[in-house]
Amino acid sequence: MNSISSSSDSLAVPTVSELKKNKIPFHVAIIMDGNGRWALKRNLPRISGHRKGVIVLKNIVITCKELGIKYLTVYSFSSENWQRPRIEVKNLMVLFLDSIKRELEDLNKNGVRLKLIGQRETIPAKILKTFEYSEQKTKNNKELFLNIAFNYGSRQEIIDAVKKLYIAARNNFINIDNIDVKTFSKFLYTEDFPDPDLLIRTSGESRISNFMLWQIAYTELYFTKTLWPDFSKKHFLKAIYNFQRRSRRFGKL
Ligand code: FPP
Repeated sequence: MNSISSSSDSLAVPTVSELKKNKIPFHVAIIMDGNGRWALKRNLPRISGHRKGVIVLKNIVITCKELGIKYLTVYSFSSENWQRPRIEVKNLMVLFLDSIKRELEDLNKNGVRLKLIGQRETIPAKILKTFEYSEQKTKNNKELFLNIAFNYGSRQEIIDAVKKLYIAARNNFINIDNIDVKTFSKFLYTEDFPDPDLLIRTSGESRISNFMLWQIAYTELYFTKTLWPDFSKKHFLKAIYNFQRRSRRFGKL
């Protein structure tokens, strides 16, 4: 069975040098939750929490590079998030566009490759154009793969994969009898990414919220009460340290 941890907030904080170099997760996925509550606690507008969230994300990207983590996938906007109040959606879109435009040069210089995972067909044109421009600009980078889940819903991702697979089979590009886990995975938005080794969710909620349901079959789960805007390098190192103490068996003995 997959080992599922609840919050591990009581663990001591390790330094980078205390982490085992040979047990660094290859792919970390994060549900960055709690921005709104962080702002509310300070009597600030919700967007302040999201703005602080972008700064935190930047720090985590830097730490991933420092540790040699190769893939970082973050849940930035779900397909359900469009149902939030119009003003929050509008503010978030402005924040996404501004942040990507502002950080692109720096990300590129640091060898970060950006990729959008989500249903592209239903993303407003202006936003999709910015994402696709940044994907194009960073396409040769190999230091860190930063996957931004935007307009993302895992059930829809699986349905979209089934539809693509059906078309491929109908056109004889694929033989139904040969479909296995590996072939099916290639039809997902994540295509040929490795599955996440570790999934972190901040803010004390212990659920997956329609995120990477297929990909996390054997992923180690880590929940922390820390709200995303407060999530520092120390919190991240603690999560990695906790991951390194797990015994991963992938269903075997
Ligand atoms: C969840 O907190 C957070 C979001 C819906 C947005 C997360 C986005 C960022 C941190 C910005 C990322 C930026 C780029 C460029 C990828 P919540 O609003 O659900 O918080 P709450 O549960 O406390 O209300």
